[in-house]
Formats: sequence, C-alpha cells, structure tokens
Amino acid sequence: MISRSELFAGAATYYARYRHGYGTEIIDYIADTLGLDDRTRVLDLGCGPGTLAIPLAGRAGEILAVDPSEEMLAEGARWGTPGIRWLRGDSSTLGELPLGPVDHVVMGRSFHWTERERLLRHLDELLPAHGAVVLAGPTTDPADPPWEPQVQAVRRTFGLEWRANSEEYAQSGRHHDEILRGSAFNRLESRRFTRTVRQSADDIVGLQLSFSYSSPARLGERMPAFTKAVHEALDAANPSGEWREEVVTEIVVARRP
Ligand SMILES: C[S@@+](CC[C@H](N)C(=O)[O-])C[C@H]1O[C@@H](n2cnc3c(N)ncnc32)[C@H](O)[C@@H]1O
Repeated sequence: MISRSELFAGAATYYARYRHGYGTEIIDYIADTLGLDDRTRVLDLGCGPGTLAIPLAGRAGEILAVDPSEEMLAEGARWGTPGIRWLRGDSSTLGELPLGPVDHVVMGRSFHWTERERLLRHLDELLPAHGAVVLAGPTTDPADPPWEPQVQAVRRTFGLEWRANSEEYAQSGRHHDEILRGSAFNRLESRRFTRTVRQSADDIVGLQLSFSYSSPARLGERMPAFTKAVHEALDAANPSGEWREEVVTEIVVARRP
C-alpha cells in the first residue's frame, strides 16, 4: 500500500500553482467565525502547501501546519510566511507532535484521508471547550468540473481510476456530516461559497498533476504522454482554450453542544 507521505509525490509544486485557493471571503469567514486573534493557535491538519495556513497566518497567533508529505511542507515553507510552524506528521501521529495548546483545527480537503472517527476522538481530547473543527472543501453534492469528461476518458486509457482515500472513508462511504454528528463535535454550521474560475487548457493540464491519482510519481515516465493526451482532448472539446467553472466550497464548522 502507498504510504501517506507518498500519496502526492511530485505533486506539491503543481498543487501550489494550479489548485484553486479558498479566496478572501472564505478566509475572512473562518477567521471571524472562530474569532481568531493574536493569541489563538490553530492546527491546520493535512495542510498541503499551506492553502489555508498561509492566508490564515497573520489572523491568528500561530498556525501549526501539519502534513505527512515533506514536499508539501517544503513548498509551503519556501514563502517564509511568519506565524506558521511546519510540522511533519499526520492524523494518526498528532499525539507525538510538539503542538502545545491548540484552540481550533482546520482541515482543507484532507478529512477524507484520515480515520475520521478516531481522529475526532483525539481532537476531543486535544481541543479546549471553545475549540472548533472546521472542514473546508467541496460540498455534499459536488458538480464535476466542465473538463472532467474529457480528462476522465484520458485517465481511463492510462488506467488511473484508482480512488485514493483513507480505507475508512472508501469503505464506509459515510458523509463527513454524519461522522461529525456522531462525534463530540456534533453542533454543525455550514456555509457555501460560489466563485467563477476561468482556466486555460494549460492550467487544467497542470491541475491534473496535483491530484494523488494522476501525480507525477503515479504517472512516472508516462507523464509527457498523459499531459499531451489531456491537452489534445481539451483542445478538441473546446478550441477556444478558455474554460469557466463555478467552484462551490463548503465550510463546515463543528463544535461541541
Ligand atoms: C488534497 S490535499 C489538501 C491540502 C490543503 N489543506 C488544501 O486545502 O488544499 C490533502 C493533504 O492531506 C495530506 N494527508 C494525507 N493523509 C493524511 C493524514 N492521514 N493526516 C493528515 N494529512 C494527510 C496530504 O499529504 C495532502 O497534503
């Protein structure tokens, strides 16, 4: 089985460059809802290249940015953003990390990689009474991006349909909300944010290399053939080369009753 640290091997630079950020409105919402100030310490678990940690730094006292991938941490750390401590670890090793007191936990597109119930039990021990768990990511009913049919057809020809999630998530199929409702953090507040994003075919090709199932490491020497095939499929479907997408992000704030 592929190790946690290798899930996104080779993908970090593509992740930082091509994945959609969350945007100011969402960052403001998280900061305001949690009441962040210069004394608040926030754990960003599965931080990747700092998609949440970097814009949240400066809004809180300290961000503890934790990820199992050295590459992701290095990509985030190279900006030298003050107020962030980058730590290698994952949901199963939190107890071993030198975190110190943590007020809140944020997870951007990473909860599905964890053994969710076990993690929430651990967070119940870690967080103070006012502590919240915040999930940021696609909604309960995510729509496929407009280019997905073309890219999916190419992925199929390259045998890249492997679903890369935690065993627990893949096997139970239970939605995050259901898992949260069964945990100590069962008081949920959810808000959706919609943005229009414009991308070129090059952006969409680069984005594919940020996904665990079509990362550079997964593709190996087939990477040039894959990117060429994706580009050709996109150009055939949309010769204008401009793609428009409505990106919906859901922020779930889970608190104890
Ligand atoms: C899709 S990326 C999300 C990155 C960033 N948080 C964001 O919002 O874009 C998922 C991240 O979770 C990390 N990850 C995978 N398994 C994990 C685990 N068990 N605990 C914590 N992080 C994990 C991966 O290394 C990867 O950087």
